[in-house]
Amino acid sequence: MKTMTKKELFSQQEIAARVRELGYQISKDYNDRRIVLVGILKGAFVFMADLARNIACPCLVDFVRISSYGNQTVSSGNLDIIMDVSLPIEGKDVILVDDIVDTGLTLHQFREYLKDRNPNSLKTAALIDKTARREKFVEVDYCGFKVEDGFIVGYGLDCAEEFRNLDGLYLLEE
Ligand code: IMP
Ligand code: MG
Repeated sequence: MKTMTKKELFSQQEIAARVRELGYQISKDYNDRRIVLVGILKGAFVFMADLARNIACPCLVDFVRISSYGNQTVSSGNLDIIMDVSLPIEGKDVILVDDIVDTGLTLHQFREYLKDRNPNSLKTAALIDKTARREKFVEVDYCGFKVEDGFIVGYGLDCAEEFRNLDGLYLLEE
């Protein structure tokens, strides 16, 4: 069994400051319009909880569960909707929230799926935009941090379900 070490990338304080900025930007852009935040479980649960509390507009929250990864660290590219949106989103201003964009397949495919339900507007937010393995272009309208590569855990992000509870973001290294 390989030993993995964690190297801190962003501290709790750095994340909090960045999430505050994103919330401020969203509040400004939506100018008191009512937003429906749709978070992709499980990874987005921490980011979305903090983001929602930094948005000054009226805000509804919903979660979906889609699976494309299993316990591997490489995306399979197949989107499997395990739990769908429960709020009506037709005519609504929706922000799709994910933890990290890697190949871009998850966010791209699910964004297309939501678009078919005719929201008034549809934007995306991701805590991390990881650029090295992008296969599908997807606009990240509200991005916390850009990183090149590496496997990141903490603040909701997992490796085989572990480390989601860490309050910082860490690079997992062998
Ligand atoms: P994509 O479809 O390749 O963009 O993968 C997106 C999903 O893969 C994210 O929502 C994460 O759940 C997972 N993922 C991708 N990279 C990482 C990482 O570095 N750490 C933890 N999860 C990741
Ligand atoms: Mg994950």
